[in-house]
Amino acid sequence: MVGKVPRENYIPTIEEMEDWYKEDLRVKALNSLEDENNKKVEDQGDFFRAFRRLDKRKIRSISGTEKNDFYYQRYVDYIEKETAEKGREIEAIENLIAYERFFLNWERRVNREGNNSRHYGSNSATRYRVDAIRRLEQELERILKESKEAWEFYYKRQLIEDIEDKKRQRLINVPYVAEAKRKVIDSLNLGVPVYIVGHLGSGKTQLATEAALDFTIENRIQEELEKKMNDWFSLNPNAEEKDAVEKFKEFSEERKQYYKDVLMNGRKEEIEPLQPLFISGSHNLTYEDMFVEKTLSLNHSFSQGSFADYLNMIIEDFYNWMDEHKEKLDAMTNEEQLQLKIQIWKSFSDLLVASNSAFGTEIKKIEREILTAVKEGRPVIVDELNTIAMQNLIGLNDILQRHAGSTAYITGVGPVMIKPGFGFIGTGNLSTEMVNYEGTNELNPAFKSRFVTIEYNYVPQSITGSLEDQELRGKNQLFRVILTGLADQNGNIHIPDSKRTLEELFRFSQLCRVTQNVFMGKWKDEGVQRESSIENLELREAVLSVRNILHVLDNWNQGEDKDLSKALWDGFISSITYADDQNYILSQAVRFGFFPASEGWDVETKAVGEATTIYEEIRTRPYKYVRPEIETLSYLDIVHLIFGEGPGRKNLPEELIEVFEATIEDVSKIHSKKYQELDQRLYHLEHSKKLLEYLEENLEENEEGI
Ligand SMILES: Nc1ncnc2c1ncn2[C@@H]1O[C@H](COP(=O)(O)OP(=O)(O)O)[C@@H](O)[C@H]1O
Ligand SMILES: [Mg+2]
Repeated sequence: MVGKVPRENYIPTIEEMEDWYKEDLRVKALNSLEDENNKKVEDQGDFFRAFRRLDKRKIRSISGTEKNDFYYQRYVDYIEKETAEKGREIEAIENLIAYERFFLNWERRVNREGNNSRHYGSNSATRYRVDAIRRLEQELERILKESKEAWEFYYKRQLIEDIEDKKRQRLINVPYVAEAKRKVIDSLNLGVPVYIVGHLGSGKTQLATEAALDFTIENRIQEELEKKMNDWFSLNPNAEEKDAVEKFKEFSEERKQYYKDVLMNGRKEEIEPLQPLFISGSHNLTYEDMFVEKTLSLNHSFSQGSFADYLNMIIEDFYNWMDEHKEKLDAMTNEEQLQLKIQIWKSFSDLLVASNSAFGTEIKKIEREILTAVKEGRPVIVDELNTIAMQNLIGLNDILQRHAGSTAYITGVGPVMIKPGFGFIGTGNLSTEMVNYEGTNELNPAFKSRFVTIEYNYVPQSITGSLEDQELRGKNQLFRVILTGLADQNGNIHIPDSKRTLEELFRFSQLCRVTQNVFMGKWKDEGVQRESSIENLELREAVLSVRNILHVLDNWNQGEDKDLSKALWDGFISSITYADDQNYILSQAVRFGFFPASEGWDVETKAVGEATTIYEEIRTRPYKYVRPEIETLSYLDIVHLIFGEGPGRKNLPEELIEVFEATIEDVSKIHSKKYQELDQRLYHLEHSKKLLEYLEENLEENEEGI
């Protein structure tokens, strides 16, 4: 279809136009990339610009005739207009949802404060909001299901948000991450401490940090919006609720942007109070390390300032004293007065000497993170909580049981009011039978029962079927993280031989997941085939966690000078020091199509207990890489790869039909035969390809029958 030279007055089918449009986006993607680089190049100076050389890469472009095709132009105009319109519709619904949520939070707070309890409780007002939210969410779902443009708008925005997360070094917000984060925040809002537990490198620490930050910011925004809405309404008492909804949109957007800016470019004093307090757990972390640290500090001495300054100090104190006691002094005899004055003067000078000459040390108490969090109303994270000795954790008991607003007793400090905004998150590494981290212990059940425990592991990824077989693309969240890692800031991806590379990247995601499953000891549940050659399947140390995955991808560097097999070796497998782990991961990599013999690899499965593998062992000839041509995938291609096909277009949109029909009348002066042809094409346009093929088939049969 692409590349077909359209005839004059040719009416393309809707499928053709869709394909042209997709190709158009790829060309734009390529151009925009070059444009952005060009801006930076300008700043590099003359030498750089004078001798800069570029790899010659043809910019493909859909042929001029297609671009100028009358119908295609109308089609593009329509798509752009419709996408913008659906975008506004989606954003309006989302604002309504946010407004209902805002009101619900407010109602819940009122209800909770009224009942003086930790729980929100439910009443007719909260139920009203809950139902309203559900209805709006259904409405949003319906639009996404029915409109191709709405779907594309929504998921393109999602992709761009993922890329922003990447840029800000946040976790990519795949559903698995988003759900876990929500659970943590909801729990903190109920005043229940959270224990996040999972395997090495799944992102627990980062999840805790982001959830705590979001918790603080969400609550601040809620509070600020409540105030802003009240202030606005008292100035506009006749406003209706629809004005309020508009105002809400303006205020909430402004607030969100404000905090985003602070986090990106704020001053230290602005950022710090938003961030959670943080303690790294370890076996020898004590109670004092968490609450108050007692340190020895040296007292002041006369070493600073001159003697005259000190003298002036007591003279002033002395006269103040005499002023304050004037009445009593006046009642005395002169002799009595003099004696008292001498005594007082002596006392002042003794006090001055005493307070400045104690060269000894004094015990000073410094508040540590947990106490600060309690007092200032901020969340605190105790990372790797399960490494701390149980007897040192007991001291947390009272705090963990009380909710914000009440008083907790802290040993060595006394009663302390827990300020709203406080929250407690602990993280812990899971140990399985096979994997046991040094120094970690199971939390005592009574202690653990004070927490909501959230298990958080590696993001989901299907391990069966090829990329093409995938129906529910949403299941492949690891693949989404990987593609996001490769995308430029507009959501486009530039890789060699895109079809092959995408398949390889997909198999890479699957390989990662298999090593993760084995690492977690879950291989039985998820149908990993047990290889007869490998007994007692286990991984001790090495796992392709997201961190390692990103490392491999950086090493691959979009296939600039090596393929994925080589990057997998260089960026990960070569550095595994535990031989059995390395052997197993290498054999799995081969199973997923990496290290093929045809490209000079020769990986033999080793028995358990054999030595680690070196590069020379697995190469049959020197490595030589020929880079395939780099191809560009547009954001729309990526959106489809990550989120699936979305709703198709069964019929030509009404609006377009009208535009087309109007033109046909214009050209009706032309030859009647041609008109018939146009009319027929237009008729076809209104139907899906399938229907079209069906009609054509029947037509042929009929003709044959004559
Ligand atoms: N969804 C994700 N998106 C992006 N990066 C991720 C994601 N999940 C995990 N990572 C990466 O993996 C790392 C996990 O590190 P960390 O939080 O220390 O794990 P843990 O505490 O569970 O051992 C993160 O810093 C991040 O680089
Ligand atoms: Mg950690």
